Amino acid sequence: MVMNSMLAAARALAPRQWLTPEASASASTSKETSVTSGSTQPLVKVAGLHKSYSPQVQVLKGLDIEMKPGERLVVIGPSGGGKSTLLRVMMGLEQIDKGSVTFDGKPYISADGGGKTRIDTNVRREIGMVFQHYTLFPHLNIVQNLILAPCKVRGESKQVATERAEGLLARFGLAAKAKAYPSQLSGGQKQRVAIARALMLEPKLMLFDEVTSALDPELVAEVEQVIMQLAGQSLPMMIVTHDMWFAKNIASRVVFCAGGVVVEDGPPEQVLGSPKHERTREFIDRVFHIKQ
Ligand SMILES: Nc1ncnc2c1ncn2[C@@H]1O[C@H](COP(=O)(O)OP(=O)(O)OP(=O)(O)O)[C@@H](O)[C@H]1O
Ligand SMILES: [Mg+2]
Repeated sequence: MVMNSMLAAARALAPRQWLTPEASASASTSKETSVTSGSTQPLVKVAGLHKSYSPQVQVLKGLDIEMKPGERLVVIGPSGGGKSTLLRVMMGLEQIDKGSVTFDGKPYISADGGGKTRIDTNVRREIGMVFQHYTLFPHLNIVQNLILAPCKVRGESKQVATERAEGLLARFGLAAKAKAYPSQLSGGQKQRVAIARALMLEPKLMLFDEVTSALDPELVAEVEQVIMQLAGQSLPMMIVTHDMWFAKNIASRVVFCAGGVVVEDGPPEQVLGSPKHERTREFIDRVFHIKQ
């Protein structure tokens, strides 16, 4: 998977020269744009997070991450290091052993070691996630995929939700596909629909877990462009990617995780360009190995 992403990154490098926040975004992409205006508290605070799948598989070992409002935080690290686990925990999809996750000042996931994870689903609903493999319902057309959750979860009327869905599809260049079924779409189109579907619930934070790594190289750019567009509109995001080129372009900050903890945390130029820690350096050289 890592190798595929590396190849994809290397092979698609030239056609993606245009893919800069400036080119993709209508609004400016300052390195740290604030959504919670005037707020100084972190948007996300992951504190002392411990997660094991079994006594033998201890994945997160006291992970601490803070994310400011408006940041685009890219999480990198070795395969099997727990990046997907972190995002899944933040979505309330995994039990944890210990620690807490706070969103916009509200602690919504916590466990004190007693074996029970508390999850505040109202807070969790403010966060959207897109996975590596598109998870569209095959028996529903694209608009139906988009309006399902808003109508069911939020009680939105079908007409209002459909109008919003069509607006999003038009924005992502998918207007002509509104009535198509997932099987009639390319991988890149499906992934753009998956992003649009997550946006239908108007998240205040988006999590992206290797959303381009299953795509053919020529389809990567169209999905990354959509994410860049969202970045241009100041949507805070946490992105797990093995694509160095994308990481460099999208990140306002990069976190390198290994061994279940944060090893290095800083601006993309520093963490990706001249890492301080030997472990980060080794990883960058070994896994990405892209000439800058
Ligand atoms: N449901 C599960 N049950 C048991 N072990 C799991 C489960 N999910 C993940 N793991 C294990 O937890 C560890 C971390 O997995 P995770 O998917 O979070 O890593 P990752 O950093 O996202 O890796 P990659 O870069 O390959 O996507 C791995 O050793 C994995 O095998
Ligand atoms: Mg993963």
